Amino acid sequence: MQAAVNVVILAAGLGTRMKSRRAKVLHEAGGLPLIEHVVRTALAAAPPERIFVVVGCQAEQVQAAVSRYGVGFIEQAEPRGTAHALLVGREQLEPPGGLLTVLYGDCPLLTPATLLRLIAEQQASEAAATVITTRLDDPSGYGRVIRDEQGAILAIVEQKAAGPAELAVNEINSGIYCFRSDLLWRYLPEIRPDNPAGEYYLTDIIGILRRQGHKVQALLLEDSTEVLGVNTRVDLARADSLLRARKTQELMLEGVTIRRPETVTVDCDVRVGADTVIEPFVQILGRSVIGRDCRIGTGSILKDVELGERVDVRPYTLIEQARLDDDSRAGPFARIRPATHLGPGAHVGNFVELKNARLGARSKANHLAYLGDADIGADCNIGAGTITCNYDGERKHPTRIGNRVFVGSNATLVAPIELADDCYVGAGSVITEPVPSEALALGRARQVIKEGWVRARRAVTKP
Ligand code: UD1
Ligand code: MG
Repeated sequence: MQAAVNVVILAAGLGTRMKSRRAKVLHEAGGLPLIEHVVRTALAAAPPERIFVVVGCQAEQVQAAVSRYGVGFIEQAEPRGTAHALLVGREQLEPPGGLLTVLYGDCPLLTPATLLRLIAEQQASEAAATVITTRLDDPSGYGRVIRDEQGAILAIVEQKAAGPAELAVNEINSGIYCFRSDLLWRYLPEIRPDNPAGEYYLTDIIGILRRQGHKVQALLLEDSTEVLGVNTRVDLARADSLLRARKTQELMLEGVTIRRPETVTVDCDVRVGADTVIEPFVQILGRSVIGRDCRIGTGSILKDVELGERVDVRPYTLIEQARLDDDSRAGPFARIRPATHLGPGAHVGNFVELKNARLGARSKANHLAYLGDADIGADCNIGAGTITCNYDGERKHPTRIGNRVFVGSNATLVAPIELADDCYVGAGSVITEPVPSEALALGRARQVIKEGWVRARRAVTKP
């Protein structure tokens, strides 16, 4: 049987270099807080009851961000260093035998495959620990991996404590390790805060293990992007664009066409069906689900949407928390707000705003309208400039429109109001009374013609 694996994720620091009031691990990349990426990766290696997150700074918010995964938490009241963060959780983390995998909450790009490889390599070896390392052209900020002439690891030296020869080393510590639990807990208390920062550095354990005659091995990654640590906003932007690139690549390999993918922003949890085309500068956010054969026009922003198949979203359209059924169309320049539902084949055109509105199958509102708190049946035509007056200054009221209703241009529907099946509303009408089925409703002043009026006026003003 394989040894049990516990995972601990260190996430107690504020992240001073972020220059933020918000704890670093709560900042988002790829549409999720950094800590959430790390927790998800950890779940590939261990069940939630064997995963612990060390929290301190803004502990409540950090816990709230990942508590739904069922992981445990350890409180580190004062961030006195990465070794101290482990020591405060000794009771929960120590269970005898087995392995302890340590992840840092600011390292969101590590993949489950690499984490499993780390654990497998440690399990298969005699070493006291395995540490993930990589080579960087610019290693500044990271701990350096110091090896002897035979290439065996001697120590990890932090940037702040390093001399010129050590600073020249370009192999860096990722902060991702897998330890033999017994040896880790035996030697961890030996770490002293005798460095310029006065912190208990977990990285000192490597030199201690070595001096005690144990071997520490490295898993040297070719792809250094996986171990990018986020310490500044510059790192955050880089992590974000790497996660976005990973996501668009994954979608393209699943059959989605993405034009100019480097301009497209897709959150991690978004799903998109094959043969859908995503044009440049599109954002698809949150938990959006998009069907097959859709087109998402340039500049559109979709958040938490559900799109059926063959949905045509034309350029510069905003859609949030709405459902668009098969063959429906929206935009260009449409705004579809929460709780809206377009039925199959429904069309919403330019400068149309919908909020909490249902547009039935094949109904159309093609130009310049506001439809709020409205329930509109099938095969209706809502003319240009139609407004549902849903707000009386205090409360919102509903508009109900049946099937096959024709609402002429520039109609003003004063809610609460009901238009029954197959009725007509004349253009320019202000409708305040219910319209019965098959009726024509006119609510406007009758046109008056004054023959010769211009000539008569001229005679008075310019005699
Ligand atoms: C750390 C490593 C460095 C490595 C780099 C990789 C140490 C001493 N240094 O440096 O060798 O190259 O990561 O990204 O480990 N944390 C706590 N409690 C504390 C201090 C930190 O939970 O008392 C957490 C932070 O919230 C953070 C993580 O540990 O998520 C790493 O801390 P950070 O300050 O970012 O360490 P680095 O300077 O990046
Ligand atoms: Mg860091």
